[in-house]
Amino acid sequence: MIRLQILFWYFITAASAVHYECLPYPVDSVCRIEYISYHSGDKITFPKGYQQFLIKSSLSSKLERSNISIFDHDLYDAMHRPSSVRMRDTGINTLDMPPELLLGDFSDNRLVSVNTSNEDNFQITYLDLSFNWLDNIEFVSRLVNMETLFLRSNRIKIVPRSALTPLKQLKYLYLQYNQFAAIPWNDIPHSVMFLDCSHSVVRMAEFTDISLPSLEYLNLQYNMLSSINVSDLLLAAPKLKEAHLYNTEIEWPKLMDELALNNISTSNLFQFCSLDKGYTVILGVCTPPPSMYYVRVAKKVLLWIVAIGSGVLCVCTLLFAIRHMKKLRWI
Ligand SMILES: *[C@@H]1O[C@H](CO)[C@@H](O)[C@H](O)[C@H]1NC(C)=O
Ligand SMILES: *[C@@H]1O[C@H](CO)[C@@H](O)[C@H](O)[C@H]1NC(C)=O
Ligand SMILES: *[C@@H]1O[C@H](CO)[C@@H](O)[C@H](O)[C@H]1NC(C)=O
Ligand SMILES: *[C@@H]1O[C@H](CO)[C@@H](O)[C@H](O)[C@H]1NC(C)=O
Repeated sequence: MIRLQILFWYFITAASAVHYECLPYPVDSVCRIEYISYHSGDKITFPKGYQQFLIKSSLSSKLERSNISIFDHDLYDAMHRPSSVRMRDTGINTLDMPPELLLGDFSDNRLVSVNTSNEDNFQITYLDLSFNWLDNIEFVSRLVNMETLFLRSNRIKIVPRSALTPLKQLKYLYLQYNQFAAIPWNDIPHSVMFLDCSHSVVRMAEFTDISLPSLEYLNLQYNMLSSINVSDLLLAAPKLKEAHLYNTEIEWPKLMDELALNNISTSNLFQFCSLDKGYTVILGVCTPPPSMYYVRVAKKVLLWIVAIGSGVLCVCTLLFAIRHMKKLRWI
């Protein structure tokens, strides 16, 4: 009898799907949800009629974070195939890209793989995969309608040549805070207007025989570059308006002057540094000249010596006085 009950209970739970309701949101087409638990094979349902799903834990909520191990076709079907899905900080580690999705924001998850196989006609134009654990980005080559791609703060060690060339619509590419040492300049699509490759370990940026006809913004700062030939860069990217090229090995004031001469705006790292007093920028921080640094340290040390010395002197005087008082039998 007990066994039968257990079996019955098992069937009930297996058959009944978990239903999630949308929280209040001022835009009718958006379904906002704070918590979801989903693993491959789970039964799950959502209300109908929403174009966008927004799944994000609230910072103040005591509820646990969403626990979604995979965004697969069953989960997308359960949402009734919306055109836009934003799921941040939900723990996803595998993403099966739905072909109809137009906008996807899966930032701040634990993505190690994105499955774009078995499909051909991906519609997606905007994809945010920042703050994940991706090291292989070959999958992007199939997302041929992509215009804006965020891959910031992943574990990318190689930007494969074949990954980017098919993206003929790509305009904004964010690759900063990764670990790649080379950029395949020849394979950057001609449509790219904005390219951020800062904070990686890029060692070379040669712009001879490179064509970046649409590029207006380039960020290569905080890499391992030791030189950049500005005239070559401008030949390659004639539309360039803004460039951030600070690297510790590059003679920065000279490069800054060259950019200024060509009307390219750049971040002025020396803005708050009085160069005439010998300040330099070290790792982007305004640093006083060594001589001044030592003077400051010496001043501090002297101050400490004086402070400790006077303390010791005080104590000694007191002890001396007490001893004398004892001798004179005052105390
Ligand atoms: C997420 O769900 C899985 C399967 O139910 C479970 O094993 C795991 O402990 C959960 N993780 C968290 C952080 O709750
Ligand atoms: C990728 O997704 C397809 C469905 O589109 C599925 O058939 C295939 O098994 C998935 N591949 C992997 C490696 O998960
Ligand atoms: C930059 O490259 C050009 C050739 O493309 C060369 O003539 C020029 O001297 C180089 N400039 C510097 C500063 O090395
Ligand atoms: C930079 O801008 C100034 C003022 O707008 C202009 O006179 C000059 O020709 C420009 N220089 C270049 C290299 O485009």
